[in-house]
Amino acid sequence: MSSNMVAILYLISALLFIFALRGLSHPESSRMGNIFGIIGMIIAVFTTLMFKSVLSYYEIGAAILIGGAIGSFIALRIEMTALPQLVAAFHSLVGLAAVFVAAAAFYDPVAFSIGKVGSIKTASLVEMSIGTFIGAITFSGSVLAFGKLQGTISGKPIVFKFQHLINALIFLLIIFLIILFVINQSPTIFWTIVIVSILLGFLVVIPIGGADMPVVVSMLNSYSGWAACGIGFTLSNNLLIITGALVGASGAILSYIMSKGMNRSIINVVLGGFGGEQDTSVNKDNSDKIVKQGNAEDAAYIMKNADSVIIVPGYGMAVAQAQHALREMGDILKKEGIEVRYAIHPVAGRMPGHMNVLLAEANVPYEEVLELDEINHDFPMTEVSFVIGANDVTNPAAKTDESSPIFGMPILDVEKSQSVLFVKRSMATGYSGVDNELFYRDNTTMLFGDAKKMCEDIVKSLSA
Ligand code: TAP
Repeated sequence: MSSNMVAILYLISALLFIFALRGLSHPESSRMGNIFGIIGMIIAVFTTLMFKSVLSYYEIGAAILIGGAIGSFIALRIEMTALPQLVAAFHSLVGLAAVFVAAAAFYDPVAFSIGKVGSIKTASLVEMSIGTFIGAITFSGSVLAFGKLQGTISGKPIVFKFQHLINALIFLLIIFLIILFVINQSPTIFWTIVIVSILLGFLVVIPIGGADMPVVVSMLNSYSGWAACGIGFTLSNNLLIITGALVGASGAILSYIMSKGMNRSIINVVLGGFGGEQDTSVNKDNSDKIVKQGNAEDAAYIMKNADSVIIVPGYGMAVAQAQHALREMGDILKKEGIEVRYAIHPVAGRMPGHMNVLLAEANVPYEEVLELDEINHDFPMTEVSFVIGANDVTNPAAKTDESSPIFGMPILDVEKSQSVLFVKRSMATGYSGVDNELFYRDNTTMLFGDAKKMCEDIVKSLSA
């Protein structure tokens, strides 16, 4: 294949990747976005395989078959709620790949047309070492993020004295090692960069608590993109440079959006120390307070007699897989002439778009699903807020209690509606470990039980 043809096909792939990102920005266009991405990737892989420099199709074919089989097996088995750790695990592999490609280029520079052993081009040495550094950090940071999200390692932030100073010194050491490596091209220094960068990856992620992990995963996603971009320079592959930059930039934007949704700065997240296991010191003793309890029949009665209901889904809906039963409930209410809408908080659940994906899966019409900014001013005019498996995203402490770890996070103002129904299994706290005083308010009714079972029971009562 001529180099012009390669350039044209790579350009088409790059455009398709951009359309893919555009499509993925809205649930309605996301399927199309995915299709664009798949076509772009097929063109990219086949164009690359047409290179004259390909030595063995058998090895590449075997690698694609084994990798594809493992990937498909995992993707088919994975629970929706375990996606964040799966993404973290996959990012660790991208990081490791960046390190291996850099090592391959370093040991066999002729194959990569970047010089000879001992006299590799300076620019290539710089690209190689930066790619190795980012790749190694992504690898170890993602492994640790996986462990914390999976629960294999405690999600508690591990903080110690001079932590940030130590990290800064290690970073300076890596810069020094990179300069040394560019000057003397020593394999020992190359591997020292790898080891010290792996150490830095661990140290950067250990002070970050469980609640911030999704932001960290998104940041590591961004790093993995930049690592791929670095490999693109080493391999002189324009498409890899473009794709890596797209992943790097979109991961960074996503991290920013998530941090904004939690009212935290990226710096604050990276410096860590927030969102570990439950910090009971922030919770007051509520044992003397009265909680109004109800059941499915009560909920059905209250909603049937309302004009408008806003449903607020959260992590518990995802755990219970209650989205289909919930939609069924919404459909019955709509048939009764009740206005039903869904309010989505930007960080409801455990990953961006978590609730949107589940509601879309249950065929909830997109126009009924509204973002925080679009619906928050409607709560005072709403008769019933039906909060299902959500907790932190409704907690007024975020507005009133300066000592609360969630202070400053924008919340859905469910307490302003005439009555609030809370579906959850117990009085337990949400992810941030902070009590929700809404549970004790006069206009709140707690519906204790599994979210799916509760919706099914409400559907039965509504249909009776
Ligand atoms: P949470 O505050 O974590 O509350 C979820 C509630 O669901 C829990 O209180 C739990 O109470 C209930 N629950 C669990 N399983 C259930 C089941 N089977 N049936 C019924 N209820 C069940 O969730 P949220 O309101 O969605 O807030 C998300 C939290 O995650 C925020 O703190 C946010 O900052 C954090 N976070 C999210 C993201 C993204 S991107 N989404 C990123 C970083 C951090 P019971 O145990 O009593 O049932």
